[in-house]
Amino acid sequence: MNVCIVGTGYVGLVSAACFAEMGNAITCVDVNPAVVEMLSNGQVHIWEPGLEELVQRNYAEKRLTFTTSLKEGIEKCDVVFITVGTPSSDDGSCDLCYVEQVAREIGAVMTTPKIIVDKSTVPVGTADFVTSLVQEELDKRGVSIDFTVVSNPEFLKEGDAVNDFMKPDRVIVGTEDENAAAVLGELYAPFARSREKLIVMGVRSAEMTKYAANCMLATKISFINEVANICERVGADVRDVRTGIGSDHRIGYEFIYPGVGYGGSCFPKDVKALIHTAHQYEYTPELLEAVDNVNKRQKKRMAERLVEYFEPQGGVEGKTLALWGIAFKANTDDTREAAALTIIEELTSKGMRVRAFDPVAGEKVKDRFADNDLVEIVDEQYEALEGAQALMVVTEWHQFRTPDFDRVKESLTAPILFDGRNLYNAAAMAEKGFAYFCVGRKS
Ligand code: UDX
Repeated sequence: MNVCIVGTGYVGLVSAACFAEMGNAITCVDVNPAVVEMLSNGQVHIWEPGLEELVQRNYAEKRLTFTTSLKEGIEKCDVVFITVGTPSSDDGSCDLCYVEQVAREIGAVMTTPKIIVDKSTVPVGTADFVTSLVQEELDKRGVSIDFTVVSNPEFLKEGDAVNDFMKPDRVIVGTEDENAAAVLGELYAPFARSREKLIVMGVRSAEMTKYAANCMLATKISFINEVANICERVGADVRDVRTGIGSDHRIGYEFIYPGVGYGGSCFPKDVKALIHTAHQYEYTPELLEAVDNVNKRQKKRMAERLVEYFEPQGGVEGKTLALWGIAFKANTDDTREAAALTIIEELTSKGMRVRAFDPVAGEKVKDRFADNDLVEIVDEQYEALEGAQALMVVTEWHQFRTPDFDRVKESLTAPILFDGRNLYNAAAMAEKGFAYFCVGRKS
């Protein structure tokens, strides 16, 4: 099948590479000439395991091409995916300006019938909005060309996106158009085990499914963080509680790890966007507002505990914290809404110095902190410890799981360890002489 994918971010590029891998001819369109040039040289601008290899192979075998011209991209294809960014506006709503631009351009240049697929996470009603924009552009040209707009939300996790695309739990196709459902069924057949995993539904239900899925997952995390905070106070251990409740298959073990709050490009944004949508329809979504508030509080909690700890010793001002992990989770260089950024900002606003290290995300945040003299991004894990009074682990990278604790202890001026991801054993840490603080259990 000839397919055009507009937007080569995480979702667009992963989708393109995986469709190409199954033998389809994919043209990727991006407005950024630098990105198109990089991709055309076999370099991938996103750090995503397995993606570069897939892109290079399919590019070499000419199933994947890159262009800045949408007109050229959609010429030969029947299916166009919109996979551009949908950032949060200041009021929490989803900013559709890029989706709007692409929709208008499709309407302005298309010459043959198209199935237009919204794959970006977009609020309920966006397929209808895109339909009206494309039609408006066609009307301006005075032409009549068949098209339909389908919702096909993605469920990719950063760091495991290729795998998620290749072996999805489900593929959601939102459309009332039988032909579009059949064409997308064909395209996804190699991934959706010959349609066994294909779920076709109304377009608004598909749009809502994406938000409901992410909000459910965010709710699980805020729930367990709330439980963890209570565990700390009542002397329970949240790890045992997690195992205890997870064994009930209706609850499950997954996605109930407490920590520093959820971050990334999806959960914070999507929870806020659904809250905003609900308010637009004059409904107050109390549970979702609580999920968002619990998360905001959780992202600051480790910093607050550290401040409390240093209070009797004259406060954190002038002291130095070594911080391991800046990315919002392991296996990604993404720092959007990362708890580490909140923690760094909280602590430096109180005059603390922070020496931060991340295996891949350090470079990305150097600019952000360029004007903050209190922040130093270092290139090596143990270098962060030099001259620091305490270590805080914020991201669960493998290399932080079993560090050389003797070296950690020697490098720090005092053996104080704040573990935002419950990576270590409290008794073992006490034995090694650390003052150890973790989440949802005795510190
Ligand atoms: C998420 C969804 O999982 C995916 O289906 C959707 O398409 C996009 O949003 P992603 O944002 O890449 O994916 O990351 P995910 O692995 O879901 O983690 C999100 C955040 O929750 C991270 O900050 C992570 O550290 C945190 N988290 C996750 C927890 O704190 N506890 C958990 O048990 C799981």
